[in-house]
Amino acid sequence: MTELYDLAKRDRLAFWADQAHELYWHKPFTKTLNWSDAPFAKWFEDGQINASYNCLDRHVLAGLGDRVALFFEGEPGDSKVFTYSELLAETKKAANALIALGIESGDRVAIYMPMIPETVIAILAVARIGAVHSVVFGGFSSDSLRSRIDDAQAKLVITADGGFRKGRAHPLKEAVDQALQEGNCPSVEHVLVVERTKNDVTFGPKDTWWHDALSNAATEHVAAGFDSEHPLFILYTSGTTGKPKGILHTTGGYLTGASYTHRTVFDLKPNTDVYWCTADVGWITGHSYVVYGPLANGATQVIYEGTPDTPSFERWWQIIAKYHVSIFYTAPTAIRTFMKIGREIVEGHDLSSLRILGSVGEPINPEAWNWYKEVVGGSRCEIVDTWWQTETGSIMISPIPGAFKTKPGSAQRPLPGITIGIVDELGAPVEKTAEGSVAGYLTIDEPWPSMLRGVWGDPERFKETYWNKFPGKYFAGDGARFDEDGDIWLLGRIDDVIKVSGHRLSTAEIESALVEHHWVAEAAVVGAKDEITEQAVVAFVILRQDEIADAPSETDIAKILRDWVTQKIGAIARPRQIMVVTELPKTRSGKIMRRLLRDVAEGRPVGDVTTLADSSVMTAINDKLHLGASD
Ligand code: PRX
Repeated sequence: MTELYDLAKRDRLAFWADQAHELYWHKPFTKTLNWSDAPFAKWFEDGQINASYNCLDRHVLAGLGDRVALFFEGEPGDSKVFTYSELLAETKKAANALIALGIESGDRVAIYMPMIPETVIAILAVARIGAVHSVVFGGFSSDSLRSRIDDAQAKLVITADGGFRKGRAHPLKEAVDQALQEGNCPSVEHVLVVERTKNDVTFGPKDTWWHDALSNAATEHVAAGFDSEHPLFILYTSGTTGKPKGILHTTGGYLTGASYTHRTVFDLKPNTDVYWCTADVGWITGHSYVVYGPLANGATQVIYEGTPDTPSFERWWQIIAKYHVSIFYTAPTAIRTFMKIGREIVEGHDLSSLRILGSVGEPINPEAWNWYKEVVGGSRCEIVDTWWQTETGSIMISPIPGAFKTKPGSAQRPLPGITIGIVDELGAPVEKTAEGSVAGYLTIDEPWPSMLRGVWGDPERFKETYWNKFPGKYFAGDGARFDEDGDIWLLGRIDDVIKVSGHRLSTAEIESALVEHHWVAEAAVVGAKDEITEQAVVAFVILRQDEIADAPSETDIAKILRDWVTQKIGAIARPRQIMVVTELPKTRSGKIMRRLLRDVAEGRPVGDVTTLADSSVMTAINDKLHLGASD
């Protein structure tokens, strides 16, 4: 594996061309990178490729049709197996069904589904005909779904009657109906509905059952090649301002990045490994490391519909033992949850098949890293702590198994082909000394194939968010430092993005949801340190007393507002705590000082208040909290 570092160092573009050549190109490319219109990159621009063909047809044509692509485990205990031939046959039918509904290359299709095989099939069918998918996590509310459908102008929504979560049939079609009601989302012409839970659903003129559409569809479909820069998907993610951004990824470069990193970081042996990534396809990890990376590499993988605690916390470990999972990829939050429950629950299962363990989504603290290694990995597995983002499309910083000694808590080094920097406020590289470096801003200094190609419909926002702070460099929004060996330690977000159980949320987005409630005059949201979820949402609100008629208690108000956020955004954004205050700490220029609120939320003495317009505000907030007036 170490030779990859040398190859990439010697000739970075030739290295990337080699990685791209691992894929099947309908028309080979001759140009690797066109950066003349930076920061709008074009990778492999004169080549043509089909992502779905690379994930399916290619393996079947190579004689691997009988290899298992998916072991599906439903939450209620049902299971299903799809070989690559079977997955291809279903995807072809689904592609034909989409064409029959009038979907054409370039059209946007929203996918709002549980973690079931049809979701993977839907994604691959959309990609196969050159349409653009926008997967919306099934935990998002109908309001969030509506704004994403509208922003992308989706023509079709693919959903399910429901999905099983925590022992319950969680409705999805209902949320789609709400998003579309009263003539909203006029771009949507059709809704395809997979039957999963047999929930009662209401059918209108736009609705068609997935199984009907597929059984009426032709079985043969020949995948055409699309330009390498043809849009593959949009995925909405939270930024520092209120409105989520539609991150755009295109075909050839993205698939190159996802497949290269998947086989390299996990040291994939496709004919013997059983791989399992616990992420939902509603997030980038599900896109790159459930759908495109593993399938492009011909891997055999497990997908699981439900939560780790259903019917008990034994579930994940039973699944690993049942399918002899050898590569396991999850988030630190999950590890910390199991640490708290105790090692017995893990140790009661035969996990000897495991050889590589991955971590993603937030910094993994050394205690959790060591526990993962020892208790889950029996001290014999390699741990790969992988740093990346929705925007980067694939893993950027991670150890490669066996290449060098790993270190608890550090993602360590950029992957071959990736150039990472850490700079100070003025953009100058931080000085590396024998003790390491001070903390700075993480940057990616040269373009890479799976980089985002833009923010859907907003090229200015793309430039401003990622490229203007340090001209010529991609600004990631994370703090980082080098240690004495030159290894990288990620220090979390430096902006108003917070991470709750690895899910990315914007404080501004939650604040705007709160002020949409007629009781709320002003709101400030912070991410407070949480032992399990890394950060938790804590909100401070100023109420409009005149709007609150029958004088509910502050506890009731907090409960109603927490429910409101769930309804506006989704349960992942539900504040852990809402504090009713009469004023918010602001600078003289009117900026809310979240740093001080974070001190309060984390129970620390409040820091320097000298820049506040009115320093008595913090005393008032503190005094009030000591009287116990919180949720
Ligand atoms: O702060 C970093 C954190 O997650 C952010 C990206 O979130 P998202 O786009 O939702 O993608 C998550 C899955 C790739 C980053 O800016 N992050 C992700 N992985 C790590 C991490 N922080 C520290 N260590 C990681 N391994």
